[in-house]
Amino acid sequence: ELYRSDKLDDRTHIYGIIGNPVYHTSSPLIHNPGFLAIHYNAVYVPFLVDSVRAFFKLAEMLQIHGFSVTVPHKRDVQPYLGRITREVKQIGACNTVTRIQNMWKGTNTDYYGFLAPIAEEVSKGTIHSALVIGAGGASRAVIWALHNHGVKVTVINRSLDHAKSIASETMSSYDSLENCSRYSGKVDLVVQTTSVGMTPNDTEDPVPALRFLGNELVYELIYHPRETVFLKRAIAAGCTVVQGRDMLMEQGKLQFEAFTGYHYPHWIHPEL
Ligand code: ATR
Repeated sequence: ELYRSDKLDDRTHIYGIIGNPVYHTSSPLIHNPGFLAIHYNAVYVPFLVDSVRAFFKLAEMLQIHGFSVTVPHKRDVQPYLGRITREVKQIGACNTVTRIQNMWKGTNTDYYGFLAPIAEEVSKGTIHSALVIGAGGASRAVIWALHNHGVKVTVINRSLDHAKSIASETMSSYDSLENCSRYSGKVDLVVQTTSVGMTPNDTEDPVPALRFLGNELVYELIYHPRETVFLKRAIAAGCTVVQGRDMLMEQGKLQFEAFTGYHYPHWIHPEL
């Protein structure tokens, strides 16, 4: 009962996700079962969108109540938003849009979704330093979240110029991917934000020369496959790990709250 298409009526709230590509997204698997579980009359559908401008027109016509934003629109939606949170402003990306009175409000649940699985360590102040691998869109939310909590970040990336510009923007240090071995045993947290290891049968590890000592916390953002080569290596070394699915679910729960005003039903565990 993914879309409860037999139960739509004139009071059904419409939610969705815009992106391109978008049909592979797991977000409907989070939101629709959540709506059903709390008897919230709503549906969440993927919209394949090229023109953000055209979509905002459609959103007015359909009285869409809120939507998720994915690649490549996380930046482009901003001119249409009447209000944005501090995180959206800092990161320059919005992944959640809700209707507030007669305005669209933009938030970024990737930011808090990233922090949620490591909230205890962050609040206890046990994470002093972090190595963030990658300097793309996902990396920016991660770096700002860590920076805002007093963690000293070093960004390493294949293209040094990308690492350099993200580092200067976020007041972090940077280095090239080839120098990753320097950081073995030197940081409390390692976060993998690149797309390396994502495609099926991708047995690549973005940082093969980075050794894990077992006492660092290792966080992989990729959620498919569940365990990348990088993450398997961290598990084998005895590290505490956070999987991409944990972050995906946390950001989804926060989005559900932003959409409905209700907590995500704790008894629902989507197969992502
Ligand atoms: P996202 O929004 O998911 O972060 P992105 O903005 O396209 O995606 O960023 C992709 C990241 O993965 C970048 O840091 C990219 O490195 P470059 O800045 O050098 O392009 C990194 N990446 C992608 N393929 C890679 C590969 N084969 N080896 C190393 N890094 C790679």
